[in-house]
Amino acid sequence: PGDPALDDPGAEYGYRDEIAAVLLSEQDLRAKVRELAVAVAADHDVDTPPLLVCVLKGAVMFLTDFVRAMPIPTELEFMAVTSYGSATTSSGVVRILKDLDRDITGRRIIIVEDIIDSGLTLSWLLKNLASRNPAAIDVVALLRKPEAVKVDVDVRYVGFDLPNEFVVGYGLDYAERYRDLPYVGLLGEHMYR
Ligand code: XMP
Ligand code: MG
Repeated sequence: PGDPALDDPGAEYGYRDEIAAVLLSEQDLRAKVRELAVAVAADHDVDTPPLLVCVLKGAVMFLTDFVRAMPIPTELEFMAVTSYGSATTSSGVVRILKDLDRDITGRRIIIVEDIIDSGLTLSWLLKNLASRNPAAIDVVALLRKPEAVKVDVDVRYVGFDLPNEFVVGYGLDYAERYRDLPYVGLLGEHMYR
């Protein structure tokens, strides 16, 4: 009470009256990212660095924290895709905006995703990358929504299971805003309803 950061968690970042609540704090995220990094590294070999494919833009904060917490070497690639749909749901029709810079034949790939909602984007991406003949593909997703269980995508590593609410921050946007928040927050309903 009386603490502006608690009353309005967006205020100190310039988003006054826009964020309803903090769902995952910076501390929550830091601890989970470390845990994921250790778990993924344990399944990989120091001598054959996995190639991490970061899905832009949402996963960028996660990727940068994740690789710095990994106790083994990794290599990085970036891919940008867009899935047509409304601002808060995806349609599964995916288009590549930026492709990988190199051949992934024979490489162990780890797709680094921010959030799996309907799972449509990810299942498309898995098929697309699989067709390029990598040695293996695993997925690490920081967040997962309840809908994701309906789609048959094998996500080996998941950070947090979320309620079915639209979340922003730590890379996640609504209309390109809020990516810069250091926590994952609940967007105020008045911002998109
Ligand atoms: P699908 O439904 O294909 O969606 O699994 C994955 C992509 O949709 C975006 N997405 C969100 N973005 N808050 C966001 O900021 C959310 O709650 C949310 N749910 C889905 C995101 O770009 C993700 O990669
Ligand atoms: Mg988005």
